Formats: sequence, C-alpha cells, structure tokens
Amino acid sequence: MGKMWGGRFSKPTDSAMERFNASIGFDWQLWAADIRGSIAYAAALERAGLISAQERAALVEGLQAVYAEFECGAYEPRLADEDIHTAVERRLGELIGETARKLHTGRSRNDQVATDTRLYLRDKIGALRAALLALQATIVQRAEEHLDVLMPGYTHLQQAQPLLFSHWLMSYFWMLQRDRERLDELTRRVDVCPLGAGAVAGNALGVDRAALAADLGFSRISENSVDAVSDRDYVAEFLFWATLTQTHLSRLAEDLIIWSSVEFGFVSLDEAFTTGSSLMPQKRNPDSLELLRGKAGRLLGDLVGLLAVLKGLPSAYDKDLQEDKEPLFDAVETMTLSLAVAERVIRTLRVHAEAMAQALADGLLATDLADYLVRKGVAFRRSHELVGMAVRRAEALGIRLRELPLTEFQAISDAFGPDLYDVFDFRHAVERRDVPGGTATDAVRAQIAQAKSVL
Ligand code: ARG
Repeated sequence: MGKMWGGRFSKPTDSAMERFNASIGFDWQLWAADIRGSIAYAAALERAGLISAQERAALVEGLQAVYAEFECGAYEPRLADEDIHTAVERRLGELIGETARKLHTGRSRNDQVATDTRLYLRDKIGALRAALLALQATIVQRAEEHLDVLMPGYTHLQQAQPLLFSHWLMSYFWMLQRDRERLDELTRRVDVCPLGAGAVAGNALGVDRAALAADLGFSRISENSVDAVSDRDYVAEFLFWATLTQTHLSRLAEDLIIWSSVEFGFVSLDEAFTTGSSLMPQKRNPDSLELLRGKAGRLLGDLVGLLAVLKGLPSAYDKDLQEDKEPLFDAVETMTLSLAVAERVIRTLRVHAEAMAQALADGLLATDLADYLVRKGVAFRRSHELVGMAVRRAEALGIRLRELPLTEFQAISDAFGPDLYDVFDFRHAVERRDVPGGTATDAVRAQIAQAKSVL
C-alpha cells in the first residue's frame, strides 16, 4: 500500500527511516479518541455540504466497525501504518472503499493528533482524579482509626516534638488535595478543541468549529490555528502534575520505609506489598514503597524530556512533537498504578502504637519546658538557653531530662520550681497544641471534618 501522502514521492522511504518515523508502536493507544474525532469530523463535513448524508452514514458506520475491531483487540500495529491516524483511515478504506478518501477533507494530522491527545488525556484525567480521591478517602479513614496514637515528630529526621500519628498522616491528605486542585485546573486547559485548525492556517472549507467542539464534548475551541497545532502546554502541565503528585507519594513512601525498619518498628506493611530476597531468607522488603519513591524520578524524566523537546522549536507543528506521546503514556500508566498501590498500602498498613510510644524521648518536651519558663516570666531566648543547659547536664549525667534532680535545675536557674516535672507528659504536650492546624486531638478532629467536606 502506498503512503497517504505518497503522490509527490518517486521512491520509497528508507527502511531505517520508516521505523524511526513510525509512531504506531505507541500511539495506537489513541485509537478510541481518533475514531471519535473522525465521527465528529464526518458530521462537520456533512454540515458544511462537503459530503452527502449517505456518505456521512457510510463513514460513521465504517468507523464504528473499525472501533469494534480495535475494541476486541483485533488490530495489531504494523509499521506500514505509520501512525494511528493513517491506520484507522487505511482500515476504513478497506471496509467501505472510496468514500473513506473523503474523510480527511480539510483536516490535517496536525489538528487531528492535537485533538486525539486532548480527548485521550481528558478521559484518563477522569480516572486519575477518582484514584486520587480514593487515596485521600483512605488516608482520612486510617487517620480516624488511629486518631489519638502518639508518636515522635521529626524535623531533620531528629526527634522534635510529639505528634499524633493521625496528624502526620493527614499532612499527606493536604498535599494530595492540592494535587487534585491542580489536576482540576489543568483540565480546563486540556478541554479545548483544536480541530479545524488544519495544518497551520485553519480550515478553508467552512467546517463549523463550535459544533465540532460541542460534538466532542469540549468546552472551548482554540483561538489561533498556529498555536493550536503546536500547543503541548497541557501535556507538560500534566507531566508536572504527575511528577509533583508522585513526589508527594515518594515522601510518604520514604517515611514508611524508615518506620517499617526493625530499628523503628512503627508500622508494618501488609505482606502483599512486600517481596522477599532470593538470597536472605529472613527478608521482607518494602518494594511497593521503594517503587513509589523511584517512580518519582522516572516521571521527572518524562517532564524534563518533553520540555527539552519543546524548547527552541520553530513555530507550529514539527515532527519533534511526536515525542510527546511516550512520556505522556508512560506518565498515565505510572500514575494509574502508583495511586492504586499507594491506596492499598495505606489501607492495609499496620500501625504499632506501642513502638511509637516507646520511642518518645524526653527531648521532645524541651520546647514545652522552655514554654514553662516563659510562663514564669523568663524571656523565650533566655528560657531556650536555660533548658539547653539542663539538656546538656542530663546528657553529661547519662540520665533522662525528667530524672535531673530539682537541685540541678535550680543550679541553672531559680525560675525552675518543683512543678516543672508536670511538663513531662507527651499527651499533654500534644493537647496543648490546639490551634487550628495543630496536633491536639480536637484540632485533628476539626481537620478531618474539613477534609471530609472537600472530599
Ligand atoms: N504521528 C504524528 C504525531 O504524533 C501525527 C502528526 C503528523 N503530522 C505530520 N505533519 N506529519 O505528531
């Protein structure tokens, strides 16, 4: 079979070039979008008086038959098809004959591929959004289940102040909430119909672009044909969304990897999300979490790769733009699995409140001891220094801060009184932080209520 664009050529494409040029090996994934776009385009051609009602019916019937073939997996990518657009048209021609040759009237693969990619992505975003919501809902549910479990809070991975486990867990809810907002915002920019932009200058045969957009369920049409065929901002935005969302999942994974080690023992993963070692019989490795962490690097590669392709491209369509597909498909597939695995890992995570309680060290209450002195009238900078001295003294004596005798405290400052020992209560330290957004149980309860209202 000759090329759809073969008229002006006197020799065949070089064989290496043919493989180099072909995108069918991956863009076959656009089949449903491509056929949907063509069915709408056939209607636009009829409306413009370019084909008869019978011709339109033949095209639509034929396209539906091609759709059914793809749906049941009958299509196998072949190199000669070049890309999904020519593949569908080739098959349509085989099924309905000459009329198929009218479908591409006034259309270019440039506006076609832009339309297909937007339709495809719009679809996938719907599923990803639902997966993100499911993960958020599970986080809320687990936070409620373990509402008042105490744990050490860390900064610099050093013990800082006591926290509720639920408060730590909910911190990821809000990261994912911003990810969901970002996804909604970028969807508005995906939701634009470029069909009718033609190759670069617009359609000369009077297709009704607004009707096309409505047929395809797009809210808007693109405003400039030059921009329409080369705009891949929405792909870049989506890749950024994927990268940032995965970065959040990667940090969640990192916390849990550390905490599931024998040394911490704060949590354990359900066996179904771990794997063994081929050499060391005792091992149970948190591969699910490690992959959640690792995939963030891969997605960043997708994003940076596409931006590098876009940078410095001359105006309108260039074949370089075909390089948007693989990172896009990769990101969609990666995010689909990542969000599903993250949700299941969190849903099945076992939380060991006792190990967390055992890890609570008195240093976590040093800030509260400084606050105690503040309430006795000592300036904060001074109280910070005095408590620092007490910590150093306890360390030198090899005892816990609460074991430091009153005489020792009073040798440092006479602002210390016998009631200083009341500070050594982790639960109390948590409950004192009852500002909105703080770790007190009531504050976390309010936070969870707020979270439920945005779910
Ligand atoms: N496979 C191409 C792509 O993905 C379709 C557009 C081809 N356009 C062209 N002028 N050759 O970008």
